[in-house]
Amino acid sequence: MKNIQRLIKTCFFVLSFVFIGCKPSTKIKGGVVSAMPYASEVGVKILKAGGNAYDAMVATNFALAVVYPVAGNITGGGFFVYRNADGSSGTLDYREQAPEKAFKDLYLDEVGNVIPKKSIVGGLAVGVPGTVAGTIEIHKKLGTLPLSMLIQPAIDLAENGYAVTEKQVSSLNGYREVFIEVNGPDTFYAKDFKAGDIIKNPALAKVLREIATNGIEGFNSGWVAEAVVSGVQTSGCILTQKDLVNYKPKWRDPLTFFYKDLKVISMGLPSSGGICLNQMMKMIEPYNIKDMGHNTQKSIQLMVEAEKRSYADRSEFLGDPDFVQVPLNILLDSVYIKKKMSGFDWTKATPSSEIKPGDSYYFESDETTHFSILDDHGNAVSVTTTLNGAYGSKVFIDEIGVFMNNEMDDFSSKPGVPNMFGLIGNLANAIEPKKRMLSSMTPTIVEKKGELYLILGSPGGSTIITSVFQTILNVYEHNFPIQKSVNASRFHHQWLPDSITFEPNKFDPRLLQNLKNIGYNAEEKKSKIIGKVDAILVNDGIITLGADYRGDDTAVAY
Ligand code: DON
Repeated sequence: MKNIQRLIKTCFFVLSFVFIGCKPSTKIKGGVVSAMPYASEVGVKILKAGGNAYDAMVATNFALAVVYPVAGNITGGGFFVYRNADGSSGTLDYREQAPEKAFKDLYLDEVGNVIPKKSIVGGLAVGVPGTVAGTIEIHKKLGTLPLSMLIQPAIDLAENGYAVTEKQVSSLNGYREVFIEVNGPDTFYAKDFKAGDIIKNPALAKVLREIATNGIEGFNSGWVAEAVVSGVQTSGCILTQKDLVNYKPKWRDPLTFFYKDLKVISMGLPSSGGICLNQMMKMIEPYNIKDMGHNTQKSIQLMVEAEKRSYADRSEFLGDPDFVQVPLNILLDSVYIKKKMSGFDWTKATPSSEIKPGDSYYFESDETTHFSILDDHGNAVSVTTTLNGAYGSKVFIDEIGVFMNNEMDDFSSKPGVPNMFGLIGNLANAIEPKKRMLSSMTPTIVEKKGELYLILGSPGGSTIITSVFQTILNVYEHNFPIQKSVNASRFHHQWLPDSITFEPNKFDPRLLQNLKNIGYNAEEKKSKIIGKVDAILVNDGIITLGADYRGDDTAVAY
C-alpha cells in the first residue's frame, strides 16, 4: 500500500515538475503559488474566468482564510506589492495597528519587566486587524470582477469543507492544548483531526457572506464587529469597535533599489523587509558571489556579515514612519553601506558585539503566508499576510470561526528585550496608540533590464528577509531554475543572537566546522525550516513557478 502511495506521489511530482517546475512550458500564461492547493486553484479559477491578478489576490486571500487557519486570515494584516503590466507599481500597507487604548508599557509589570507571553497569547496580544479593509481596498482600486464573485469560492470551501492535510493535522495536534487552555474544551480546533478529514466552518462562511454583501461594513460593524470585540475583550483585549471602524489601509511608495541589472521593488516601512533587503544586496554587490558558488563557505560568510550589519540597524532605527523619523537617507546611502562592510574580514567572523552590543534568543515558527500571482496581461502580485505566530493569539471566536492575531508582539515591549523571533527593538518600535508594529515581511517583485523577472516572498518571522535575499541570488547569480531556487537549503543570521542558523542536515559538517574555526557560531538545531518561498519567474518570456517543498505549497499554472 505504502509503495502504491509512493508511486502515485512520484508520478504526481514528476508531472507537476514537467508542467510547473523546472521544465519550462511556453504555454503557461500565469498562475498562482500559495501555501495550499485549494487556494492556488481558487486564484487560477478567477484568472480563467477573466479576472486579473488583483481579482485573483482577493479570491486567494479569502480562500486561505478558510483552508489555512494557521496564517491565512481575515483578522490579521499584511503587505501587498504589485506591478502592472505597463511597469507602474505600488504597495498597500494593511498591517495591524495598536488599539487606541494601548500604551508604551502595556506588557510590563510594576517593576518594569516584560510579563512573559502577555504580547503572545490571549486577548491583549491582538492588534487591530487590517486584512479585510486591505483586501477590499485592493479590489476597489485594481479589481475588475464583483467582490461577491471573488469571495464565493471561499464561502463554498467554508460551507462544503476541505480535506485537512497531514502537515496541518500535525500542526493542529501540536497546538491543541493551548487552544483548549485559551478557549475551553469545546473550542472548534480542539477536535482530533486526521489527515483527509473534511473541515467545514459554517460560522466563517456566514462572515464571508456578510463581507461579500456589505464590503468592509460587513466586518467592522453589525454582529460581526460585536462578535470580534466581545470575543477579544472576554480574553483581556483592549480593542474596541471604534478601533475597527477607524482602521485604514495605506497606499505607500514601494521601496525600490538597483542591484546590477535588476530593479527590486519591495515593501517599505512599517516593514523592515525592503530596507534590509536593500542594505544586504548593496553590501554584497561589490563581490563576485557567482564565482564563489552557491552555499560555499565564502558566499555564506559574505551574506552572513551583510545580514548581521543590516539587522543591527533594523533594531535601532526602524519603526512606523507615521510615528518616527527613520534616517532612510543615511541607512540606504551607498557610502554608509560601503563603510558598514569595511570591517569585514575573510579570515575571521566580526562578532555581533562589535557591530552593536546586546543579547538575544531566537525562536522560529513558520506561520505567516506568502502568495505570488501573475496574470496573462503581465500584472504581478506579491502578498505576505499573517496572524503573526501560528494561529495568532490562539484566541478563537466561535461566532465568526477564526483566530485573532498576536501581532502586538512585533512591537518592542521594552528596549533590548527580544520578541518571540528574538528580534531586539528600540524606541522607534515602541507601542503607541494606532501605531503599526515593525514587520519583516518582504513581498517583492524584481525587474531585469526593465522587464518583469521574479515575484517572491516568504513566511518565517525574522528569517523572511534572509530567505528572500537567498532566493533572489539563487535565481540571478547561481542561475538555478525556480523550483531549485525555492527548495535550496537556507541559513540565517540576524545579528543577535550571534549565530548562524542552518537548516539541519543540509550542509556539509566540514563547512560548518570551517566556519566555527574562524569564529562563527554555526547551529543546526534551533530551527527546522527557514522560510517557505513561493515564487514565479519570467525569464526571456518563459514563465515557471516554484512552490516551496517545505509546506503544502502548491503552484497552479494556466
Ligand atoms: O511581520 C512580521 O515580521 C511577523 N509578524 C511575521 C511572522 C511570521 O512570519 C511567522 N512565521 N514564521
